Amino acid sequence: MDLEKLYFTRQSTREYNPQKHVSDEDLAEICRLAQAAPSAVNSQPYILHVITGEKAKEFAKYVQVLGSNRWASACPAFIAIEEGKPAVLERLGQRLVKTEFVPIDIGILSAYIVLAAENKGIQSCIVGMRDEKGIAEFLGLKEKTKFPLVIALGYAADGYPIREKKRRSFDEAVKFYK
Ligand SMILES: Cc1cc2nc3c(=O)[nH]c(=O)nc-3n(C[C@H](O)[C@H](O)[C@H](O)COP(=O)(O)O)c2cc1C
Repeated sequence: MDLEKLYFTRQSTREYNPQKHVSDEDLAEICRLAQAAPSAVNSQPYILHVITGEKAKEFAKYVQVLGSNRWASACPAFIAIEEGKPAVLERLGQRLVKTEFVPIDIGILSAYIVLAAENKGIQSCIVGMRDEKGIAEFLGLKEKTKFPLVIALGYAADGYPIREKKRRSFDEAVKFYK
């Protein structure tokens, strides 16, 4: 898809067709493409956990914290992003400039995932409202494992509209210096 069209078609989808599953091949391809994302000192401090089928139905509750994200019950696939340890150089860099690069890396990775998905005609929603402890238990990982973001993936329900993007004005958001 043309890049501009891709940017404006990608949106947070909150109504999925529960009958239409995302194939393992497509999910694997989305993850493979997302691995091209840049990260500080190429640290790639994450693991992607892909949850589909019956497991996805069980998993939905972990992104429905305090009654949020009710739409997730109809969502056929999720990618839970596990936060990994930063590489030594990344840790050093973080300390030097007093900036946590790992969450930034994971944000960029998420953008790659949702754009790769949209390019395949698969809709998505980045989800921050999640129960990390529940996810860790569900995946059989240590209680303290971090999952900064989950990506919900599926096919939008029939007739789900493409919304116009609501963004700050260009002049407010972009400054040029010459
Ligand atoms: C870090 C992050 C966390 C988000 N968490 C949620 C969430 O828990 N539930 C939800 O429905 N949308 C969530 N969103 C989606 C945003 O609300 C959405 O991206 C924003 O309103 C812009 O709309 P658009 O994605 O349709 O362009 C999240 C987005 C980001 C980047």
